[in-house]
Order: sequence, then structure tokens, then C-alpha cells
Amino acid sequence: MLIDTYGRVATDLRVSLTDRCNLRCTYCMPEEGLQWLAKPDLLTDDEIVRLIRIAVTDLGIEEVRFTGGEPLLRPGLVGIVERVAALEPRPQMSLTTNGIGLERTATALRDAGLDRVNVSLDTLRPDVFQTLTRRKRHEDVLRGLEAARAAGLTPVKVNSVLMPGLNDDEAPDLLAWAVENDYELRFIEQMPLDAQHGWKREGMITAGDILASLRTRFTLTPEDEEARGSAPAERWLVDGGPQRVGVIASVTRPFCRACDRTRLTADGQVRTCLFATEETDLRAALRSDAGDEEIARIWKLAMWGKKAGSGLDDPSFLQPERPMSAIGG
Ligand code: 5AD
Ligand code: SF4
Repeated sequence: MLIDTYGRVATDLRVSLTDRCNLRCTYCMPEEGLQWLAKPDLLTDDEIVRLIRIAVTDLGIEEVRFTGGEPLLRPGLVGIVERVAALEPRPQMSLTTNGIGLERTATALRDAGLDRVNVSLDTLRPDVFQTLTRRKRHEDVLRGLEAARAAGLTPVKVNSVLMPGLNDDEAPDLLAWAVENDYELRFIEQMPLDAQHGWKREGMITAGDILASLRTRFTLTPEDEEARGSAPAERWLVDGGPQRVGVIASVTRPFCRACDRTRLTADGQVRTCLFATEETDLRAALRSDAGDEEIARIWKLAMWGKKAGSGLDDPSFLQPERPMSAIGG
């Protein structure tokens, strides 16, 4: 098991497949992009599948989520999903994507064994989309979402980040649209994970702001705590249900005590937390012919060192060196 000194057990593995992306969301990346990882530094498909196999068969991982950057940019994605689906016990598999290209790949991913997708979409207005992501791809995302639903990658979840002065007035519109299209909408508070270090607590749109805005148009009833488990989203029934809306309040209502995650970067580093400032190098172990047992031992040791929380509220908080795009969501 991947257990830490606070008694938490990680059963959810997030694997970043690339740090590259075809969007440039302002809360994530600068306009010019970043210095991407070099090819030889990336784990190969075989190395990724091997690490996931060790995680699933020796370390108790039950759920695998593929992230990026943009994971659909990884050429071997469908093959990786297929090989992970063949593991015993077979883990649940999901993908966090910006939706571009999903129109073409949703069915193949489903056939390979993918269970669900989360698609990031912050606005229903094409012009605001272009300001937020610096690309004209709004329509592609909407088509990707439809393809995911049609392929049965359900429930299709939509992640939205609200930015002051850009899309902070859109929460009720986004929810009405999600309810109509049978997508499960979740708002994520903006976190200090942008490469430009531009995050400010003052002025950020909080869970409280989002709920107040939604309540101008909808009746929200909290889902019971039991149902939440270790999920980061707090959920509400919309107008009595069955549709729900979630809010991931990483900044104002942190959920670190229930965290069940471990993360792997595209260059083979274990991260115990989005906000961790230290990493553990599994790639070096892989490439020096370590056996499965040795790799499992290193991973367990890394998790044993997991900090109690994100440290966001500490005066000494330091933003991690890696931006969101190189950690995975
Ligand atoms: N704060 C909150 N969410 C972020 N995401 C990317 N950067 C940030 C940030 N700084 C979101 C994306 C995507 C998921 C992977 O994380 O919008 O939905
Ligand atoms: Fe790409 Fe996601 Fe970052 Fe946007 S938030 S630039 S979609 S990695």
C-alpha cells in the first residue's frame, strides 16, 4: 500500500503523459509556451505501462487518470489505455483533456477501455474562450464533448475555472448548459500553479462567490458527506436533482486530509501532492534496471514523506517549480 504518516492511503494515480499543450490558458501557461521536456527525458510507453502495472498489482492503485499538458497529444495514448485495461486487477481509467481532438479519438479510447473523461471548458462564449486560452478552438471542444458523450465515456465531467473580469459572470449559464447537455459541471478555484506566478489570493473567485452566483438561478441542496468520500469536489443537487454541480475549493476549503492521490510526471518523477516541492525519481531507477520490488519500495518511501497539506495557508508557502501543465491536474 501507498500509505503516509498521516494514515492516508493513495489509491488514485494520476499520470501526466506530456507537458505539451495546444492551448495557452492564462492561468496555466504564458503565451509563448514553455521549455518542453526533451524526448529522451520522457518515459516511453513501455516505461509508463510498467510503472502503472507495479502501482496496480503491488501498491493498491485502483484508479488511473491520464493527464498532461494535453494527453491527447501523446501519440501512444490509445495503446497505453489498452495495455492498462489488460492489467489484473483492472483499474478504473479516466482522462483529463481540453477536448481538442476528442472528436476523433473518443470511440477508439472507449474501445481501448477508457471509462470516463473530464473536459476543461471555462466559457460558452467563443470570444472569451479565445482570450482565456489564446486559441480559436471553442468549437472543437464542444464537438469533443459531444463525441465523448456519444461514445459512452460517461458521466462526462466538465471542469471550469472562473477568472475575475473574464468569465466570472458565467457560472449560471455554464450550469444551465451542462444540465441541458447532461454534463456534470465542476468549478475549480484558481490555484497558484501558473508558470508566470501571477496568482493572487485577492480578487480570486472563491467557492463562496460561485455558489452565490449559482443560487441566483438554481436551488442547490448539498449532497451528503458520505457520498463525497475522498473526492475533492463538494457536490450539490441542482433544483432537486438528479443533476449535480461540484465545486473544488482547493484554496478556500482544502481537502488534503482525505487525499488519496499519488502523481507521476511525464519524466518519471513521483509527486505526492500538486504543491509538493520535492519529487522522487523513478525514471533513474527504471533506467538502471531496478526490479519491480525496488521500484515499489522507492514509491512507498516517497509517499511516506507526503506532507499533511498543500501549505497554501502558510506564510512561507512557495509555489512549486513545475507549473500545472508539467504536473497534470
Ligand atoms: N488553477 C486551477 N485549475 C487549473 N487548471 C489548470 N491550471 C489551473 C490553475 N492554476 C485546470 C484546468 C483543467 C485541470 C487539469 O486543471 O482547467 O481542467
Ligand atoms: Fe493546456 Fe490545460 Fe494548461 Fe489550458 S490548463 S494550457 S488546456 S495544460
